[in-house]
Amino acid sequence: LDNGLGRTPQMGFNTWNHFGCNISEALIRSTVDVMVATGLSAVGYKYINLDDCWAVNRTAAGVIVADPVAFPSGIAALASYVHSKGMLFGLYSDAGTKTCAGRPGSVGYEKIDAQTYAAWGVDYLKYDNCNAPADQTPQVRYNAMRDALNATGRPIFYSMCDSIDDPSAWAKPVVNSWRTASDISDSWSSIMKIVDKNEPLWKIAGPGGWNDPDVLEVGNGGLSTTEYTSHFTLWALMKAPLIFGCDVTKMTNDTLRILTNTEVIEWNQDSLGIQGHRVKRGLLSEVWMAPLANGRFAVVLFNTDPLLSAHMTVTWAELGLTAGSKYTARDVWQHKNVGLYAGTFDAQVAPKGVVAVTLVPA
Ligand code: GLA
Repeated sequence: LDNGLGRTPQMGFNTWNHFGCNISEALIRSTVDVMVATGLSAVGYKYINLDDCWAVNRTAAGVIVADPVAFPSGIAALASYVHSKGMLFGLYSDAGTKTCAGRPGSVGYEKIDAQTYAAWGVDYLKYDNCNAPADQTPQVRYNAMRDALNATGRPIFYSMCDSIDDPSAWAKPVVNSWRTASDISDSWSSIMKIVDKNEPLWKIAGPGGWNDPDVLEVGNGGLSTTEYTSHFTLWALMKAPLIFGCDVTKMTNDTLRILTNTEVIEWNQDSLGIQGHRVKRGLLSEVWMAPLANGRFAVVLFNTDPLLSAHMTVTWAELGLTAGSKYTARDVWQHKNVGLYAGTFDAQVAPKGVVAVTLVPA
């Protein structure tokens, strides 16, 4: 969507993966405070997004009403608190009669809801597709909200959550990002399944419109540090939204270290905006690549063997690099240069692990 937003993938926090419907203004305030104190905000995580369950009903005039118990100060006050910390604030709604969790949906209320969001200071809308009326296509309903948001004059990032109708075919002029798979869970199999759905769509992603393989599970406890490191690396390389969904007030050092790896974040926020993709796939090994600005390349050796470490090699021909060219490899997890390479790059890779390097022209 050409609304000036999402020139690089959006970064931030979303409540759903960890908190579900157990949300409140106290949670958002403490999340924001910790994100500022730990440096998460400083490395680019700007959007603080409330997912489903913040709304309870509508007034007689049709204005959406936030849960008065969970949000006693109101959404405008909460958005203003988020803004006071230099961050941006997002909400969730649905292009149907009810949200996925059964709260009021926005179909037929697009204009009044968009105006309400703008008046409250909302900067981001995640728009779902549950309980949709059968007589209107998703295109019609998503266009209606796009036009309503645009008419407010406030820049509001527009994120489509619709894994049912394959939005990848039509979403680019409509929204700033679109979901490409069903809901993520905090398991390795879920992450691998989503990667397979998201990867083939790499050519349609670019500034203003991104494939969204769903919110990161880093920090939710179901996976090992190695697995979360691979998860984060692939999301960053695929130019996925870097929106995380853990409880930052209980983060481990490893969680913070993964989420604040600025060398990996730079891959994600690279100005070319080219989504990384596989260049080679074996039974238990994958090589991924993304061109970066200034003639550099992000390369990931990914060992999908659950038990054994592997020695992996990729050739310049497989990466599409010029024969004879030389590159310095910068390991973005070890934070050091690991050597000068000409013709091939190779490394030992841990089970379920990645070796992730930036190839810099030598
Ligand atoms: C759907 C979405 C999730 C979340 C829930 C909320 O399942 O895909 O990301 O927003 O709805 O109910």
